[in-house]
Amino acid sequence: MKPMFLGFGNSTKIILKELKDIIDDFYYYDEKKITSDLGIRLENFSIPEDCDMVIECASVGAVKKYYREILDSGKDFYILSTGAFADSTFRNNFMKKIVDSKSNIYIPSGAIGGLDVIYSIRKYIDKVFLKTFKPPISFGRNDKKRELIFSGNAIDAINRFPKNTNVSVTLSLAVGSFEKVLVEIYSEPNVEKNIHKIEAISSVGNYTFTFENNQSPNPKTSLLAPLTLAAVLRKNFEKIKIGG
Ligand SMILES: NC(=O)c1ccc[n+]([C@@H]2O[C@H](COP(=O)([O-])OP(=O)(O)OC[C@H]3O[C@@H](n4cnc5c(N)ncnc54)[C@H](O)[C@@H]3O)[C@@H](O)[C@H]2O)c1
Repeated sequence: MKPMFLGFGNSTKIILKELKDIIDDFYYYDEKKITSDLGIRLENFSIPEDCDMVIECASVGAVKKYYREILDSGKDFYILSTGAFADSTFRNNFMKKIVDSKSNIYIPSGAIGGLDVIYSIRKYIDKVFLKTFKPPISFGRNDKKRELIFSGNAIDAINRFPKNTNVSVTLSLAVGSFEKVLVEIYSEPNVEKNIHKIEAISSVGNYTFTFENNQSPNPKTSLLAPLTLAAVLRKNFEKIKIGG
């Protein structure tokens, strides 16, 4: 396969390593003009005719800036910076535009899991609680004890912590509601990992998940996040699809 990567940072490099057996060649565009011995660098943003899909591992801003061209190209679009969907204007424009596009949109689980369960029971969900615990440095803070630094929904969370709350947006998209997901973010000096605790209350049952993520070379990004995108891509090549 020959993908085009939007962004050539931490996550793209992890995905390339993870999928080296199925990626034959790739294009990449990064606004920092990063160069590499591997792949084909695009000087300006464009979508080469012969790429198989566009994989965004850049930023919320990149999703908002380039989604129109990507959807016009009809290429499948894999999105890691899901925080873009917290913006209701963007979300509405995006949803209108996909109606006439041939692109399929893939939103990997990112730094959490259990979205197969959440999506399956979405009609029956009363409330979902997400508690995120990260070391103070992740928020540019220096707390000596646990501090609740945010309580609200994912729309407000992403506005306050744009690089830290893709998880709450992905979860809200799986639930199908921003209102039903209550987000709490804690600055926690006693952890080194990025921890997400999810509790879903529904008429199908109650479900609790805990994710204790090791950080990737970019400490703001859990290693799990790019691995879930790689797994979604790999499933395209497998006859047996597990989960969902
Ligand atoms: N869905 C999730 O659960 C989840 C989890 C972790 C990270 N993320 C998101 O994934 C994205 C990538 O994370 P990362 O650790 O690889 O980041 P990174 O900073 O290591 O790499 C991002 C690269 O994208 C480039 N870039 C940013 N905006 C761009 C633009 N408008 N045009 C072109 N290039 C652009 C940067 O120059 C950088 O090289 C981030 O937005 C992050 O918030 C999502």
